[in-house]
Amino acid sequence: MSLVFAMPGNDELADELASVAGSSSARIEFRRFPDGEGYVRIGGEPRNKDVFLVCTLAHPDEQFLPLVFAVRALRAAGAKSVTLVAPYLAYMRQDRAFHAGEAVSSRIFADLIGREFDRLITVDPHLHRYASLGEIYTFPTTVVHAGAMIGTWVGDHVRAPVVLGPDAESMQWVEEIARVARCPWTVFRKERSSDREVQLTAPALEQFGKRTPVLVDDIISTGATMIEAAKVLIAAGMQQPHCIAVHGLFGEATVSELRAVTQSLLTTDSVPNPYARLKLAPLIAEQLAPSSA
Ligand code: R5P
Repeated sequence: MSLVFAMPGNDELADELASVAGSSSARIEFRRFPDGEGYVRIGGEPRNKDVFLVCTLAHPDEQFLPLVFAVRALRAAGAKSVTLVAPYLAYMRQDRAFHAGEAVSSRIFADLIGREFDRLITVDPHLHRYASLGEIYTFPTTVVHAGAMIGTWVGDHVRAPVVLGPDAESMQWVEEIARVARCPWTVFRKERSSDREVQLTAPALEQFGKRTPVLVDDIISTGATMIEAAKVLIAAGMQQPHCIAVHGLFGEATVSELRAVTQSLLTTDSVPNPYARLKLAPLIAEQLAPSSA
């Protein structure tokens, strides 16, 4: 027997997941005391059940303590196992100390999560200098890939596409999306000089003639990467690109600037946002059985 719980802000995905998986869902009450401390109370009846706790981690610092309070309350109430379903997994980008004294937050965060949960299900984690999630998450993990779903969307909606990634590490998504959409692909070279400044070098673009550019990345945060890539394409004489990301964080993103240089903007619903039209629940639901770990 399984039960799907939602941390605050994750109700929609949790309900969809429970419905697709034929499971029940239950709520977690969360509020803050006047001094800012958090209060968590679990609903439902988790005793002897495999619990799936849905919490996308786009704002991990404020979410982490309530998440720990919830998992501990679930265990105290007799849950058989607790799996974290975090469609967006935070703290994957600081994957080494770039300067002396820096905390390698990816490794530390993985250790903290690993102390609390039996299993993790996530979607396309940012893998750059780590070859796989298992390098830092040493308990059972399941990675869901959105590439095929995005490739199907591209194949169905874009005439004569070419899929382009803004940096070398985007190749892992770009290649799969282009394979499903049956079209050519390539990636740019990126150098980042600050949080909001990137320099991109495009490959030869003439070879793609009048094809419709589709820019793809795993994350849009400030939007700087996608905006710069779109500008490079337009300067090279291509049409405005479609712009697709797995995770639309839109941290302090300049969405209006991004919309001005793209013909459409689309993400999965790993992080709720106005452009999150690609639904992950069916893909994640396939992984809820304990045997699929
Ligand atoms: C990092 O390498 C990621 O793949 C994305 O390219 C990056 O997070 C995008 O960030 P931003 O939107 O702030 O340029």
